[in-house]
Amino acid sequence: MMAAATPDLMSTIVSLSKRRGFVFQSSEIYGGLNSCWDYGPLGVELKRNVKEAWWRSMVTNRRDIVGIDASILMHPKVWEASGHLSGFSDPLVDCKKCNERFRADHLDNLEKCPKCGGQLTDIRKFNLMFKTFMGPIEDQSATVYMRPETAQGIFVNFLNVQQASRLKPPFGIAQVGKSFRNEITPGNFTYRTREFEQMEMEFFVPPDQDVRWYEYWRDARLKWYSDYGIKKEKLRLRDHTDDELAHYAKACVDVEYLFPFGWSELEGIANRTDYDLKQHTQFSGKSLAYFDEETKQHYYPYVIEPAAGADRATLAFLVDAYNVEGEGKEERTVLRFHPAIAPIKAAVLPLVKRDGMPEMGEKIYRDLLGNSIKSFYDHTASIGRRYARQDEAGTPYCITVDGQSIEDQTVTVRERDSREQYRVSAGSIVELITKKMKDSMK
Ligand code: GAP
Repeated sequence: MMAAATPDLMSTIVSLSKRRGFVFQSSEIYGGLNSCWDYGPLGVELKRNVKEAWWRSMVTNRRDIVGIDASILMHPKVWEASGHLSGFSDPLVDCKKCNERFRADHLDNLEKCPKCGGQLTDIRKFNLMFKTFMGPIEDQSATVYMRPETAQGIFVNFLNVQQASRLKPPFGIAQVGKSFRNEITPGNFTYRTREFEQMEMEFFVPPDQDVRWYEYWRDARLKWYSDYGIKKEKLRLRDHTDDELAHYAKACVDVEYLFPFGWSELEGIANRTDYDLKQHTQFSGKSLAYFDEETKQHYYPYVIEPAAGADRATLAFLVDAYNVEGEGKEERTVLRFHPAIAPIKAAVLPLVKRDGMPEMGEKIYRDLLGNSIKSFYDHTASIGRRYARQDEAGTPYCITVDGQSIEDQTVTVRERDSREQYRVSAGSIVELITKKMKDSMK
């Protein structure tokens, strides 16, 4: 078995994504829109499974974390308080000769354009927030911003959520949703885009427990990726150096994945201290301090924030699952997704289109769908071709209905990874796949 890791692996993934319906270029018929992508039928299932796996482990399976879904447009003062209006900018330089634009902090030499050798402009600060207007009048007073992170929707709701759910620190508030950044250098497919989805959780702790919880979330978040099948040797933690730390952070560590374009951030875990709650208290004039019933004292909890990207995680799951096996005519592409992450769980394949096999297959297919198991039915082409198509979509289980099935009501289950095949009774398929899915979940 060969796990492909060639330099052009990304172009192979991009073309597989289009061919099989994982990801398409946005507005493709108009020539596309830079850095914008659309998830197709397989991609949308994959990304939903990633977000659901995150939500399960962060919210559903825990007693100390609850969720919210805040609005994308927020009061403009939020971004003053958070520091995004004044500080959320990248240093930008342009080449005077070829007009190419670069992030100054990504260049070794600020004298010469790395592309054509031309002279570069002075560094300008470029704010990454998208602006728009609320209502019909497009003036300063109507300016609102597309949120650049979901976190602020959580901070401004801290006391609403705390009082409604009656949770005491340490407890967390989680949110999954779109964020927008006018990135200077988007790229690497869906890795860095201007519109993306975040999965963030703010964990509010008594100030003297920050170090302990920071370490807890650092380890838990690294483990989550390998629990769902990402190879451990392609994951690492990288501590931020002092000059990399955001203005609000006491410590930050990135979970990185070894993409074909190098080690890159999947998620950051930051100790944001009490910065955000205090800033919003100051700017809004409403205290966001927590009242401790036991000590009868108010205090501002510290915040430990695991902040992940749904699109980046989805890309990492896709790249990591990609395998090419065999040679020549025997070559096959297999996406070895963890069953909980795989877009389609089971494919039902009648061997031929007669002798009652399609009818029996159709019944199994209906039963699977009726039990919320995303499945696929295919009775075209040779059985080998159909297995190959499912391997390429990452489907973990194929169910084949053949002549014997009609006689004894058994079917063949073929497992994607081992290619092992075994017969089971047709009536037990839903139970079998449900059990396998359950066993694979963390
Ligand atoms: N609230 C903290 C925060 O937003 P961040 O490191 O800027 O921290 C968190 O973003 C995560 O959001 C990143 O680790 C990444 O997965 C994702 N993300 C950030 N910018 C992105 C972009 N331009 N495209 C895709 N994902 C992005």
